Amino acid sequence: MATQGRLAVESVSKSYPVREGAVVALSDVTFDVAAGQFVVLIGPSGCGKSTLLHCIGGFVELTDGNIRLDDSAIRGPGSDRGIVFQREALFPWMTVEDNLRAALRPKGITGAEAEELIDTYLKAVGLGESRRLYPRELSGGMQQRAAIARTLIYQPSVLLLDEPLGALDAQTRELMKEWLVGIWLREQKTVVYVTHDLDEAVFLAQKVVVLSARPGRVKRIVDVNLRYPRDRRDPRYEEKREQLWKLIRDEVRFD
Ligand SMILES: Nc1ncnc2c1ncn2[C@@H]1O[C@H](COP(=O)(O)OP(=O)(O)O)[C@@H](O)[C@H]1O
Ligand SMILES: [Mg+2]
Repeated sequence: MATQGRLAVESVSKSYPVREGAVVALSDVTFDVAAGQFVVLIGPSGCGKSTLLHCIGGFVELTDGNIRLDDSAIRGPGSDRGIVFQREALFPWMTVEDNLRAALRPKGITGAEAEELIDTYLKAVGLGESRRLYPRELSGGMQQRAAIARTLIYQPSVLLLDEPLGALDAQTRELMKEWLVGIWLREQKTVVYVTHDLDEAVFLAQKVVVLSARPGRVKRIVDVNLRYPRDRRDPRYEEKREQLWKLIRDEVRFD
């Protein structure tokens, strides 16, 4: 069981100043994430999912409210949280292994200790043979696995993933979902995962936070108490998907 990585999101609001006033991206968002829990945030496009993840990452200042990690208020970015985006998370001018080395340097980890960690994490994400390749020489799925390895290697207690499979083809996405469950079970990190894909939510999450259309508010929190790896033939799987779709469909608009 993970002992670190407990998050408390408390009455968080976020407005972005724009020329005509302000865009309210999030309004009074409250939820908890237990240490080691896999939480998925879903909601229609523009509802503030990325904003919320950036707030947890400490990259965006809150307009109101509080986010606590293990009882300390988040005031900025820190190596206790690692974030991975949909794409372009790697330095394109560095090989895969150099990307991992670069992630260790700020922590002062170099030499044999660094090489051992790099070896371990490259193997963990199935890229042991590809360590000397450049990001452009990797497939989309390999790039995302490398980006996740680069984040895991500095041992954050919380992994923040913003539509990490969004740029991948359907088959790769399917394999990556299974892979993500495996790596999460092994690493025991807290994961906050943003997607608009309902199947990803039901396949991955222990808890789904459903956000309303902008400004994002918590519309419902849905627990998914199904055993991993999840079986889509289990009728309860489809029931959860259906429940989430009913919650989301009223929020999705054409514009
Ligand atoms: N830096 C910014 N300045 C102004 N508005 C922003 C900024 N970032 C996001 N927004 C606005 O905030 C809202 C939420 O955006 P975002 O968090 O990216 O939503 P999502 O990830 O759910 O699609 C959108 O209306 C978006 O245009
Ligand atoms: Mg987004």
